[in-house]
Amino acid sequence: MRDALHEPAKLVAESSIAVRDAYQESTGQSFEALSASLWVAPFVMLPQVFTPGQLPETPQGFLPVPDAEGTLVARVSAVVAMGALGMETVSYGSENDGALFVNLVVIAGEGRIADKSKGAMRGHTDAVTFPFRGQLDACNSDIAPSPDFVCLSGLRNPDGVRTTVVPMSDVLAALSAEHVDELKKQQFDIRSQKTFIPGMNLILGSEHGIDGGEILLDVGGETWVRYSHSSIRVDEDEKPAAAEANAAFAAACLQHCTSVVVEPGDILLVNNRLALHGRGDVGGEAGGESRWILRTYGLDTTELTKGQRYSKPGYMLFP
Ligand SMILES: [Fe+2]
Repeated sequence: MRDALHEPAKLVAESSIAVRDAYQESTGQSFEALSASLWVAPFVMLPQVFTPGQLPETPQGFLPVPDAEGTLVARVSAVVAMGALGMETVSYGSENDGALFVNLVVIAGEGRIADKSKGAMRGHTDAVTFPFRGQLDACNSDIAPSPDFVCLSGLRNPDGVRTTVVPMSDVLAALSAEHVDELKKQQFDIRSQKTFIPGMNLILGSEHGIDGGEILLDVGGETWVRYSHSSIRVDEDEKPAAAEANAAFAAACLQHCTSVVVEPGDILLVNNRLALHGRGDVGGEAGGESRWILRTYGLDTTELTKGQRYSKPGYMLFP
């Protein structure tokens, strides 16, 4: 399993037909229907899709993910599930050294990152400054799109900490047409999320950001979102209508949270276009038997350009 995880695309090619067949056989339902529903849902819970076997103590940082039976089964399950559903499991070179999976755990020690790992996290999409799939970055066409899905595999959650999801369909229904129109205009500055900044400095020479971007984008019949409360900048004096729409959006997000508990063995796929995600207060001590979720990303890579991914490893996207 450890070797297979070095080449997730190969693993998917070898297993996805068997996964589809097994799903249809055991549930009597069409895999196509499951796959189609996934792309228009704010999230899909795949309950009890793996048995988290033997696990060491919960790690105390994003990396490394220890090579134990339980984490290997969790990782292979995530790669295979997303592959069967039509997306590739990917990482970004600028985040956590391009690791395909990271531990979401209470981080030991003091300081901003450690404090943040314990507290509740407001809703956001991941890789918020990267383009929507189908668009190119205004300054650098090699910047890969943000992920379509954030994949959370549950290893431990003794206190039943809830993962929050904010479905865009609910938020947009609560906003006025004027506010929605403002959010679709290219008038918001978007700063990078903290986990990406050291890597961006290394790879790009500076933090990646967007000057004058949209928060909402109509794609097909859906409205896609990119958002992070702490990353959006809009000047209240220069653009009062945009600032008001941003405030209304943030308030609507707080009012339309739903939540789900990711239990050991569960895989939660959160749509990174149609929902924000966050979590409740984790609290407690690091290590031991504390909460432990593995996170990775899924992306439909059929239209990715050569420059948007590294050749080695092939799952790592630029930057
Ligand atoms: Fe996130």
